Amino acid sequence: MAKLIVANWKMNGSFDFIDDYFEEFENCETANTVVFCPPSPYLGIVKTYVNDETTHLGGQDCHNQALGAYTGDVSAAMLRDCGCAYVILGHSERRHHHSETNTLVKAKAEAALKQGITPIICVGETLEQRQSGSAQATVIQQLDESLPKTKQTIVIAYEPVWAIGTGLVASLEDIANMHQTIASHCQGGEVKIIYGGSVTDVNAAAIMALPHVDGVLVGGASLKTETFMAIVAG
Ligand code: PGA
Repeated sequence: MAKLIVANWKMNGSFDFIDDYFEEFENCETANTVVFCPPSPYLGIVKTYVNDETTHLGGQDCHNQALGAYTGDVSAAMLRDCGCAYVILGHSERRHHHSETNTLVKAKAEAALKQGITPIICVGETLEQRQSGSAQATVIQQLDESLPKTKQTIVIAYEPVWAIGTGLVASLEDIANMHQTIASHCQGGEVKIIYGGSVTDVNAAAIMALPHVDGVLVGGASLKTETFMAIVAG
């Protein structure tokens, strides 16, 4: 089964970086599906490097409204216009720095689906929640409140907040348990479940071999072409 591998560049990149990156990435052969999510100003240039078959373009966020007086925001329709097939929504950095709630994430996901864009909805517990034994309950509540009801495909990214950008990866057992919980909870919907949080070329294959893990969401390691190519090639 082809895996879904999403590169979340966050607020990194430049025209020079992108030229160098894809000069190298062009040589990457894979049966997996790869999604590049650059910052909005670079969607147009990255679009020229994806083939919409094995490689796709994705946004890092969208507004829940189609248009209007929302300075600094981009709509799902604009992402569609730029050629995006996916959009990351409710990333913990958005939830934390921009106070995004489950309700808002759901509205954004509905806006994306309306444009035919597959939302990648991020959920995950904090370290405090894991240590107090409420990780599963937290994630279930996020799923209940941020997932739209739809027959279209949705991607759920399980990203423990404490594993993002820290080098701390959840154990294979914890990942398998949470993905099992998410899969059981989302029965009946068209969902893919991917894992994110300090994924590297060293741990990606073992994580993707777990049951109910349909792929990975890669932050830091997606910025190094060689490392990302190793993850993608499997
Ligand atoms: P990381 O980020 O791979 O750098 O931990 C993952 C993410 O935030 O999506």
